[in-house]
Amino acid sequence: MNRHVNNQIADFNLKMSTRFNLLVLNGPNLNMLGKREPQIYGAQSLADIIEQLEQKAADLDINLSHLQSNAEYQLIDRIHQAFENTDFIIINPGAFTHTSVALRDALLSVNIPFIEVHLSNVHAREPFRHHSYLSDVAQGVICGLGAQGYEFALQSAHKALNQAAKTT
Ligand code: DQA
Repeated sequence: MNRHVNNQIADFNLKMSTRFNLLVLNGPNLNMLGKREPQIYGAQSLADIIEQLEQKAADLDINLSHLQSNAEYQLIDRIHQAFENTDFIIINPGAFTHTSVALRDALLSVNIPFIEVHLSNVHAREPFRHHSYLSDVAQGVICGLGAQGYEFALQSAHKALNQAAKTT
């Protein structure tokens, strides 16, 4: 085998062995899941949801980091820290969805693809929940499917990252 082919195989192996880094962000009041309006948000705690997601991420060979914060600046700081070391973001911005230009700008500033997740179907609720400052710049939006929404987002991120890795 010549050196060129050997190099191509080495490149391929490197790509195949690179683990993707995924960041999961949860905004205000999501630490209250399980206790908070369970008829809307379900009975599962955020710790349970994240534990299951970590398990699924490990099965897919993905490194998962998670932050929940009630403070807008902490979510923004974490997004900035993700610059150039994170491949994908899954975010449930909570009520900041409907208010935060700053969160939108932070996500755009790091240029990391993201999926917006909501446990509840925001479109079937009060009109002030119908608008999101993030949706038009998100890769996708999942709402109304409860905690399963995070899992679907993980599956979709995994597929998108593998496809991108194959074509680069
Ligand atoms: C939410 C929907 C938001 O409107 C609300 O403010 C939340 C949770 C959801 O997951 O359904 O805090 O993002």
